[in-house]
Amino acid sequence: METKRYHFTTIDSTNKWARQHIDELDKDSLTFISADEQTAGRGRFQRKWLSPANQNVYATFAFFCDKNQADIGNISQVMAVCAADVLEQLGFSPECKWPNDLLLSKKKVGGILCEVFTCPTSLFVIAGIGVNVNMSPDIISEIDQPATSLQMERGRQYLVEIVLELLEHRFRDALKLFIGKGKGFKPFFQKFQELLVHRPNQTMRFHDNQRLWEGTFHSLLPDGSIAIQLPTGEVKSFKSGELTK
Ligand code: BTN
Repeated sequence: METKRYHFTTIDSTNKWARQHIDELDKDSLTFISADEQTAGRGRFQRKWLSPANQNVYATFAFFCDKNQADIGNISQVMAVCAADVLEQLGFSPECKWPNDLLLSKKKVGGILCEVFTCPTSLFVIAGIGVNVNMSPDIISEIDQPATSLQMERGRQYLVEIVLELLEHRFRDALKLFIGKGKGFKPFFQKFQELLVHRPNQTMRFHDNQRLWEGTFHSLLPDGSIAIQLPTGEVKSFKSGELTK
């Protein structure tokens, strides 16, 4: 699959741009959109994603795939595996918080926001990723949860363009397996499981978009769901939601 690249100095949101330009995008290519700055970067659950200029990775991969594409709901976890591979290439030891937050030293360094739209003959997938690369501690302190950047972890700056290039390369390869060979999430499951920061019996509070559940981490299921053991002993699995404090 060929990659078509768009780069913006400033944009509201790379995910939003992909959605607005769906009719102009090449159906057979991977479209890779990046920006130096986002004025309205979005996170999961309609949260704001801090996107100051020239400090971080703000990128979106957009592509069309078959309506019956296996495991399309796991594309964000595939992206998490790719981003973790890139961080490992740069010498870091990343972990993942379910469903797809990227952590360094147990603090959030990257986030992923994927959206899937049904078109008449295909699915349109938007996979957005933000990685804090050179973000300074004063801006990081505005984030409402423990967060970090590559620079804060290592005390040196990284070239954002290099991180973007590595990501593009890794994600394009992943798509070849996921879509091209029709393998879905299976080849990525083990790595994703290994990256998980959660340990068996670790206490967790989980919001499933309707109510709060308390229990302990049980396991990751092959479809990427999280299984939590409730105080009653029942093991309940969730496909979406968020772990909270
Ligand atoms: C999260 O953890 O809440 C997901 C954050 C996703 C942020 C990225 S930055 C590039 C793309 N454009 C956006 O507006 N959001 C995603």
